[in-house]
Amino acid sequence: MRIQSATIAEGEDAIDRSLRPRRIDEFVGQQKVKDQLSIFIEAARRRGQPLDHVLFAGPPGLGKTSLAQIVAEELEVPFIMTAGPALERKGDVAAFLTALEPHSVFFVDEIHRLPRALEETFYPAMEDRKLPITVGQGAGARVVTLDLPPFTLIGATTRTGLLTTPMRDRFGVFHRLEHYDIEDLATIAQRSAGIIGCDLQPGGAIEIARRSRGTPRVANRLLHRVRDYAEVKADGQITEQVAAEALNLFEVDAEGLDRLDRTLLQAICAKFGGGPVGLSTLAAAVGEAEDTIEDVIEPYLLGQGFLQRTPRGRVATLAAFEHLGVEAPVEAGLF
Ligand SMILES: Nc1ncnc2c1ncn2[C@@H]1O[C@H](COP(=O)(O)OP(=O)(O)OP(=O)(O)O)[C@@H](O)[C@H]1O
Ligand SMILES: [Mg+2]
Repeated sequence: MRIQSATIAEGEDAIDRSLRPRRIDEFVGQQKVKDQLSIFIEAARRRGQPLDHVLFAGPPGLGKTSLAQIVAEELEVPFIMTAGPALERKGDVAAFLTALEPHSVFFVDEIHRLPRALEETFYPAMEDRKLPITVGQGAGARVVTLDLPPFTLIGATTRTGLLTTPMRDRFGVFHRLEHYDIEDLATIAQRSAGIIGCDLQPGGAIEIARRSRGTPRVANRLLHRVRDYAEVKADGQITEQVAAEALNLFEVDAEGLDRLDRTLLQAICAKFGGGPVGLSTLAAAVGEAEDTIEDVIEPYLLGQGFLQRTPRGRVATLAAFEHLGVEAPVEAGLF
């Protein structure tokens, strides 16, 4: 089981890398984000100064890492990447920051998982390009302040709520990425089909887009699976019908909900009578981590109107019952 999931994750990583847009005009959708970033990038270029620190927030697979790389690419500066959980000690942060070439983009993925104690190391680095470090031990210990090269910190987070306010406030630019519409996802699928060299018909692109949970990474993954199906069953051509058949076979339904989405909705509707049900109870019922439910599954279900968050817990909407074909409890007849 372990080996299998590692292989799937690695496969996805490789897909991500090979299909990642490199320049801002290859990045589909999120027009407002692109418009604003383009201006900031151009202004920074003209002034010969680093771009202000940038924070990207949003559910997984919407393009946060891609955008961070694009910023570095457009500014023609080095891109150095790490992740919150990889930074454990102050020394880890110091090693990265002191080694940066001037004007580099320093990308910290999952910045909400940075240990709290380390956040404070970032404050003076972000504000004044200073890094105070303690040299020596005991009575002889003293604080030496290192000057850092000018750099741009780009943070990515699936959970803005978990970032402390002082950290959030130190980013000059903040963008929340939203789920993509079907048209954009179809364009992304077409672009990817061009790169991997498969015959994706417009109808096939729309069908894949419709079932991609608003997420480019999912669109790319589905495209690969549908291509396999098309090669084996349909001479390689991905028409609307071929895509639909393939995706039905792979249990991605017409609303784009995958097995996990349905398991969650099913649990709320069937086991808990539509809710309200608390997050921890729900996590136990479906055998998923609370984080996964909040970061990955819920944002799309909330956006699509299948789920509501109330102070008393999660509630399935009528649309969820209808979609699952489960009879909704009639409020008046319940008790
Ligand atoms: N706007 C876009 N246009 C084209 N392709 C995109 C776009 N956004 C994302 N992708 C594709 O989706 C893949 C996943 O995007 P990316 O890795 O940037 O997401 P992420 O937000 O960093 O996800 P995570 O939170 O899991 O790290 C990319 O490799 C790229 O192929
Ligand atoms: Mg990423």
